[in-house]
Amino acid sequence: KILILDFGSQYTQLIARRVREVGVFSEIHPWDMADADIQAFAPSGIILSGGPESVTEPGAPSAPEVVFRLGVPVLGICYGMQTMAVQMGGAVQGSQTSEFGYAQISRLGSAGLLHDISDHIDESGQLLLDVWMSHGDKVIALPDGFECIAETESCPIAGMAHQSEPWFGIQFHPEVTHTLQGKRIFEHFVLEICACEALWTPANIVDDAIARVREQVGGDKVLLGLSGGVDSSVVAALLHRAIGDQLTCVFVDNGLLRKQEGDQVMDMFARNMGVRVIRVDAEALFLGKLRGESDPEAKRKIIGNTFIEIFDDEAGKIQDVKWLAQGTIYPDVIESAGGKTGKAHVIKSHHNVGGLPDDMALELVEPLRELFKDEVRQIGLELGLPRDMVFRHPFPGPGLGVRILGEVKKEYADLLRDADAIFIEELRRTGWYDKTSQAFAVFLPVKSVGVVGDGRRYEYVIAIRAVQTVDFMTARWAHLPYELLETVSNRIINEISGVSRVTYDISGKPPATIEWE
Ligand code: XMP
Repeated sequence: KILILDFGSQYTQLIARRVREVGVFSEIHPWDMADADIQAFAPSGIILSGGPESVTEPGAPSAPEVVFRLGVPVLGICYGMQTMAVQMGGAVQGSQTSEFGYAQISRLGSAGLLHDISDHIDESGQLLLDVWMSHGDKVIALPDGFECIAETESCPIAGMAHQSEPWFGIQFHPEVTHTLQGKRIFEHFVLEICACEALWTPANIVDDAIARVREQVGGDKVLLGLSGGVDSSVVAALLHRAIGDQLTCVFVDNGLLRKQEGDQVMDMFARNMGVRVIRVDAEALFLGKLRGESDPEAKRKIIGNTFIEIFDDEAGKIQDVKWLAQGTIYPDVIESAGGKTGKAHVIKSHHNVGGLPDDMALELVEPLRELFKDEVRQIGLELGLPRDMVFRHPFPGPGLGVRILGEVKKEYADLLRDADAIFIEELRRTGWYDKTSQAFAVFLPVKSVGVVGDGRRYEYVIAIRAVQTVDFMTARWAHLPYELLETVSNRIINEISGVSRVTYDISGKPPATIEWE
């Protein structure tokens, strides 16, 4: 396994994913991880990530010395290379201006890390590589024992390697997809230089997780809040395979789900897979509590609290439960860099469920804690969940509650469900569903005039939204074909009598958020 020491780069998670894609387990830890912990981790190789600091500043983070004493290969990327250079006696020049974007690397010939990879070959037989750069500082003097393995016009030392030790530094970012040969660079490092075996496969991950769950919970009963989303569905399938009837799922239908979603969840888990699922039909309760409320944050709170109330209630009825399962995934767990620089450690904790009665004293079982979203999807397929479900767009916890602007009413929810189903159906039919990250309809409680046949119509407005994004922090509105938008609009207005107009949302994030509330 590979240890990644995080110096705070926005790309650190990508490094871990690339290593895992090559088939080797990797974990991210803060750069100031204790020596004893590094030794206990027993890595086969260590990667030093990039980071926002400058090694030329006093007190800048550096790699623990033990990293270079373990006798394992080390790869420094960007800041990681710079700190390696300085720690070994080389020199780094600070700079106010930064280089950001594509660069072409040459001088790859003999280097172990970069051998036999190129995107182009020039007239003189030089191998050239297209890479992605994002840096200000750069190494200007190699430490003793190192040789230069890559250069660009503006960065004469864009890569370095020790002549006898397995230590490498590269200034560019192999982890981003813009560096076309990035995957092969990781293969070289992880499989060849670190000599790791590619054992991190979906089948092995499943076997391993099942064995661990069995060991953790023994013969105890486990409770899971099943939402129908990817993470909790994969947890349900995994736990069912691991412990069968010791698992009970509670599925709360809050009346704010997509069209027929509740029935689909029950069909798949209860009927097809034989998972024990308690379905709670709580539409009336949720809508009752939401009546008269139009403030977005207040609506979210009501929905969240009501969910907890119902879940606690149901959980309390099940005898002898010892464990609560959650679909926590790795990005929720990762502790990012900070450490001695004084920046707060950022630990996100997503509690799908909170506020269970104290006397239940449930312990947590979180079998996806080490997995990235794409890995969760892969093991979902491995466990036999249908593709459609595994590659489903994310759906917010408060559901249609934040897609009906203002006050939530059943009439609105029903119209919205129908419109949303038409939109999604057309996206799937045209192959656009998989090309967008999230797509949905929004209900606007305003009326607009239309004409249908000879009649005048005065009905509601539906907005449709589709975005493309990698991390949901920023997003671009999807440039859907006009023909597709036309079909969706015609179908919604013709098939749903309560809608007289359809608009397409062309706002990016930022400044707009993905959801409308
Ligand atoms: P925004 O609207 O903030 O959405 O750009 C980013 C992503 O988060 C989802 N989202 C939520 N998910 N509870 C959730 O579980 C919420 O209250 C919530 N609000 C937004 C949204 O669907 C998008 O994927």
